[in-house]
This record gives sequence, structure tokens and C-alpha cells, in this order.
Amino acid sequence: MSNRIRTFEEYKKEYQFSVEKPEEFWAEKASHFTWKKKWDKVLDWNFEKGESKWFIGGKLNITENCLDRHLATRGNQVAAIWEPNEINDKEIKLTYKELHSKVCQFANVLKSKGVKKGDRVCLYMPMVPELMIALLACARIGAVHSVVFAGFSASALADRINDSEMTIVVTSDGSYRGAKAIGVKKIVDEAIVNCPAVKNVIVLKRTGEEQKMVAGRDTWWHDEIAKVNDQCAAEEMDSEDPLFILYTSGSTGKPKGVLHTIGGYMVYVDYSFRNVFQTEENSIYWCTADIGWITGHSYLTYGPLLSGSTTIVFEGVPTYPDSGRFWQVIDKHKVTHFYTAPTAIRSLMGFGLDPLKPYKLDSLKVLGSVGEPINEEAWHWYNDNIGKGKCPIVDTWWQTETGGILISPLAGITPTKPSYATLPLPGVQPILVDSEGNELKGNGVEGNLCIKFPWPSIIRTTYGDHERCIQTYFSTYKNMYFTGDGCKRDEEGYYRILGRVDDVINVSGHRMGTAEVESAINEHDFVIESAVVGYPHDIKGQGIYAFVICDKKGKTDEVLRTEITAVVNKIIGPIAKPDKIQIVSGLPKTRSGKIMRRILRKIAEGDVSNLGDTSTLLDPAVVDEIVNGALVALKS
Ligand code: WTA
Repeated sequence: MSNRIRTFEEYKKEYQFSVEKPEEFWAEKASHFTWKKKWDKVLDWNFEKGESKWFIGGKLNITENCLDRHLATRGNQVAAIWEPNEINDKEIKLTYKELHSKVCQFANVLKSKGVKKGDRVCLYMPMVPELMIALLACARIGAVHSVVFAGFSASALADRINDSEMTIVVTSDGSYRGAKAIGVKKIVDEAIVNCPAVKNVIVLKRTGEEQKMVAGRDTWWHDEIAKVNDQCAAEEMDSEDPLFILYTSGSTGKPKGVLHTIGGYMVYVDYSFRNVFQTEENSIYWCTADIGWITGHSYLTYGPLLSGSTTIVFEGVPTYPDSGRFWQVIDKHKVTHFYTAPTAIRSLMGFGLDPLKPYKLDSLKVLGSVGEPINEEAWHWYNDNIGKGKCPIVDTWWQTETGGILISPLAGITPTKPSYATLPLPGVQPILVDSEGNELKGNGVEGNLCIKFPWPSIIRTTYGDHERCIQTYFSTYKNMYFTGDGCKRDEEGYYRILGRVDDVINVSGHRMGTAEVESAINEHDFVIESAVVGYPHDIKGQGIYAFVICDKKGKTDEVLRTEITAVVNKIIGPIAKPDKIQIVSGLPKTRSGKIMRRILRKIAEGDVSNLGDTSTLLDPAVVDEIVNGALVALKS
């Protein structure tokens, strides 16, 4: 058996084997890596306790597998290409040898700051090569990286820094995104006021904007690397030592720090990357996600580097300097594999076909989609105009918690169907259940998607609160990992993801908890109560609709809306900005005081014809008022 499937027959055989003999199956996949010491046991698990351990007793360092292992065979091959925001600025190409040297160098900087194995390091940076370098430098010395997407506000950043007790932040002076320059360090400064444990801030110069450097705390990246050499032995790590924490939104409370460990994550990400994308030796692979999300961890950084591919890091946005930028980058770098989100496709569709005209796109072989369901119209547009009907599309379903892709076609191997994630990868055992947890057997069924057996990159815990991990993922249905997604298995056994069944909204492929947005809105002094739901949005997939009760104190609805938006921006960041805010005098509640979100969701969708029985509500009249207000809001 190799670690690359070539035919659909092979896929079926390998799948069968992976279910019958999972430990043998994964042991073989793990044998392709460099281990400092082989594992003693492949797997131990107990879903009731929310526990899965893989390659127990194995010792390794993931960066030796991403970098050192390739030096002899492809040291001079380009590992990463950085494409800057400005179309006329020069790209940076780093070979495996150069990337290795830079990672070791920055690892020495971290050491010089006292960072040790197990320490958490916050990376709050734009899409520059140094983000990838810093991330790998953490892994080199056994520190745990926690990347916070640089679009989050100071307050969201501070929450994350404090939650995982981080003492060092790596950032940049500023960032370029399209026509805008954004002050990044300023946000870090504002956050750190509330993070007394932070002792060091390392600042990369990107925009050259003048900075107030705090003596004894803030230093420049370029000064630090000048003080160290580029030799750094890879720390010996246990397979189950943490690799990173990544915060993600759930249906309740504040974001959770999803924790992944080294051995299992490495094996699964590599295996899924090779098989889903079917990259070859000379592939140029471009994932447009930000490194601040799980996709940027698994399939922009670790997956491509583990498999020895060339990966692109793009600093800019799809619409700058014009809406042909993605296509320009594809032609410029002769991209063979392109992985993006449906929301990007839908927004580019809106510009028509003119922006595509100057470009050939003839280097493309495989297209990918991730983050949300891809609607048929977007699928066909992508297929016809970008893939020109000759590139298989892999619609990859997975989650921050799953670490890697679980359900997806293998490019060119699995027959695809628009809007279907198709079939599980070998080693993945999906199961559909009804609300009581009964298995829905056979084909042609629809229910809640669970996974009944562990895979190597499954979430290990939520940082600092394992009980929360059990509650969220392992307690809804006994002995199963619950995904939070609804799903259909059609007559052919193909899976189609239907979207979240919990209180999570998927906005442009980014997860937002309704509770999180509500608690931000409630920070506005005049707000008494709010309820947030998702509604269908042409470009974002889902938009955020907030129903808010205010003590207006003479302010107009317009003013309140602007102020509430500013508060959400400040507390979470622009990605949580409500698309619609409707000021209401009451919310539909049951007699016990529970908000009837089902009714609000229907109203937000514009489907007011059948709201069900509202007579048992505390105040049925409030529904009419909300409906009338919503009809106005939805037209705007
Ligand atoms: C959704 C992103 C449909 C789903 C990798 C999941 C998808 C959530 C798909 C995880 C897809 C992701 N089709 N829905 N191909 N991929 N999702 O943690 O609702 O940011 O639960 O991970 O995105 O989002 P997350």
C-alpha cells in the first residue's frame, strides 16, 4: 500500500480495510514519516471521556517532517511563494533549504526570549511569509502556536491571549489589504493593556508606519534575527504533545481553544492532502485561506510542506487592484491546484466574465472548495469558467475540530456531483442520527452528522476545560463525535452537508456563535436584550440578523444601528458585523422566557407565511410588529 490512492477501486478497497483494521491502516500511513522513536501503540480512545490518543509513545518533531526530511531530495525546490498585496511588488520565493534556515533562526529568537516546550505563543500577523516561519519555529522548539486571525479586534485578541495564558505575541507594525493599510501593532498594544502576563512582543516591519515600542517588552523582528544563528535542533516531542490551539466559535459562550496534538495531526493532514488534492512532485498549490483559520494551518502550511509541494501565501484580496486578481496570480505562478471558499466564488461571479478575459488559467488541474456548502450555481460557474470543464472540483467538508478533511471527493478519482462532499476519506466513519440518537441506516436519509470512530487528527481537548469538550462534542449522542452539521445521504450513499443545526452561523465560511454576537451587542449601554439568527445571503452564504430591544432615550433607529455595529466591531471585529439590525420592542418568548429562535429565523428568511402557532407566546402581538419591521429591513 502506498500513501496515494490512484483509482476509485483502490479507494473502495482502502476504505474497507481502514474500517476493518483501523490501527493497521494508520500504522502503515504513519510509517512514511521520520520518527525519533516509533510508537508503542497506535490508538487508545474513549468517546465518553472525550479522549483519543494516537501513536502513543512515539517521539518526533513535525518540522523535521515538513523541512529537514526534504533537504536531501528537494532542498532547492521552492517550498513557499509569497505573493504580495501590490500587483507590481516582487514575490518572494523560499526554497525548502531557505525556509528551514529561517525557521531555525526564528526558533532561536523564541528561545532567546525564554520560550520553552509547552509554552503558548500568540501569532497575530497578516499573510506574510514570517507568519508561516513563526508558526513552524514554535513547532521546532515544542512551543504551542495559537494564531489569532488578524481581523479580530483588540478585545477578542485579549480574550484569547488570556484564555491560554500566552506570554509572548509575534505581530507586525501594520498590514496591507487591498487599498487599505491597517495598523496591527496598535491593536496588540490595546489588547495587551488587559493581558498582564505578556512579557514580549516581537514586531515585524511590514508597512514602516511609525511605532511606539515599549522598552523591555517590544523588539523588532529584524533586530532579533540578527542576533542569532540558523542552527536549531528539533526538540523531541511526544506524539500526544500539543501542536497548536486555534479558537473557534460554538453555540454557547466564548470561543473555545481547540487543541490538536502532533503525531495524529501530522499523519492525517498529510494523508488527506495527498489524496484529496492528488498533488504531484511539481504541483503549485494555492489555498486562499488565511493562516489564521484551520484551513490555513492544515492545507496551506502543514499539508503542502509535509508532502513536499510548493505552497502560495497571498497577502492581498481577490478584488484588488481589480476583480481579476485571483486569476492573475494563477497565471503568474502557473498554479495547478486552487483551493478557495464558495463565498469568494460567489462574490467574483458578481463581476461577470470580463475580469477573466486576460487570463488563460491553463495551468489549473484541480479546484477545491471549503468552509460552507457550495450552491449548484457557484459550483457550475467555478467548473465552467475557472476549471473550463476539465478540472475536478473537490468539495471538502471538515471543521477546526476535525483537523483535516473528512468527507470529500479525491480529485479525478471520486465521481463528483455538484453540492455534494461525496464520500468519507478512508479511516472516517460517518453516521447519521435522528434527534434521539438513533442511527439512520441505509441510503436516502437525512439527519445529524456524527462520526463513530476516531481519526488521527480529531480534537484532543478545549484548552483548559476538558469538560466543555465532552459537553460540546461527545455528550449529545453516546459514543459519537457530534459535528453540529445536518447532512443528507442520498440514494447512492453520497453525503451532502446541509449546514449547522446548532446556533452557529457560517458567514463567508467563518463560524460565528449567535451567543457571541449577542453578548457583544448587549455591551451597548442602551441595549436591553438581543437575539441573533442567520439568514440566507447571496454572497456570504449566511448573513447575521440581529433583533435588538433598546431603551432608545430619544435616539433614532439609524443612530442606534450605527452605534451597535461599532460596538460589535470593537468587541469581536468586522467579521461579526450584523448585516441587518432591527430595533424591536419585544422578542417572541415562551411563557418560561425562552426566545423562540425558530420564529425569528423564519422572519429573517422572509418566510412569514407559516410561523406556526404563536398563541402560546408570552406576547403574541410582538410577532406582528417584528414581521412588519422585518419586511422593511429585508428590502433595505
Ligand atoms: C461548514 C472549516 C458544507 C460546516 C474547514 C462545518 C462546510 C463548519 C464545508 C466548520 C463544506 C465546512 N460543505 N459545509 N465543504 N466545509 N463547512 O471550523 O458547517 O471554520 O461544521 O472549518 O463549516 O467550520 P470551520
